[in-house]
Amino acid sequence: MPTISASILSADFSRLGEQIREAEVGGIDWIHVDVMDGHFVPNITMGPFIVDTVRQITRLPIETHLMISNPDAFLESFAEAGATHLTVHLESNPNIYRTLQKIRSLGCDAGIVLNPGTPANLLTEVLPIVDLVLVMTVNPGYSGQEFIPATVAKVREVRRMLDEIHSPAWLQVDGGINSETLPEILHAGATSLVAATAIFRHPQGILAGIRSLQQQFSTV
Ligand code: DX5
Ligand code: ZN
Repeated sequence: MPTISASILSADFSRLGEQIREAEVGGIDWIHVDVMDGHFVPNITMGPFIVDTVRQITRLPIETHLMISNPDAFLESFAEAGATHLTVHLESNPNIYRTLQKIRSLGCDAGIVLNPGTPANLLTEVLPIVDLVLVMTVNPGYSGQEFIPATVAKVREVRRMLDEIHSPAWLQVDGGINSETLPEILHAGATSLVAATAIFRHPQGILAGIRSLQQQFSTV
């Protein structure tokens, strides 16, 4: 079964605890925290303090998607705050191999992210040391954006690369994922999905949002 990671970027922060608990009841697997620094991406969001808050609300795994220019400087803080997965952008720094090694040395799962403009073949050297590959299906920075169809080919390519080295790593997608875009991306080989709008802004509520994603799993 693919894993569903609920991105709290679209949650109602005045009722964060309630909303996370509802998503948990709905059967989500992970909480996704989008960390943005106003430099690597044109938006500022959350830091370790929010991860610590989420940790007090739920025991679910917490992935921190670090959209920041110097992730090395903050890895310890996020790990100490309770993050279980630290996911860093390949574009974020020139010593990404070291960054991934450091994440694992902190006892967290290491994830690598590719922006829509970054080719899959740049992953070759780091694939053996990652637990998760995230293919961005929108430009990072905001929730509620439209899915970029050209990214499906990259998901297929990363699937092939992971299979070739018999890697058990998750292949995750993030951005514009909903019940319409999901089937194609699952067929391409994704095993994990992130959704903010489709879960926290579903017109019929959080449980209905999660159900509409889960219903797509049977189409694969
Ligand atoms: C975008 C973030 C996503 C975002 C997804 O930069 O990485 O996690 O919250 O939002 P939706 O699901 O609304 O596209
Ligand atoms: Zn994200």
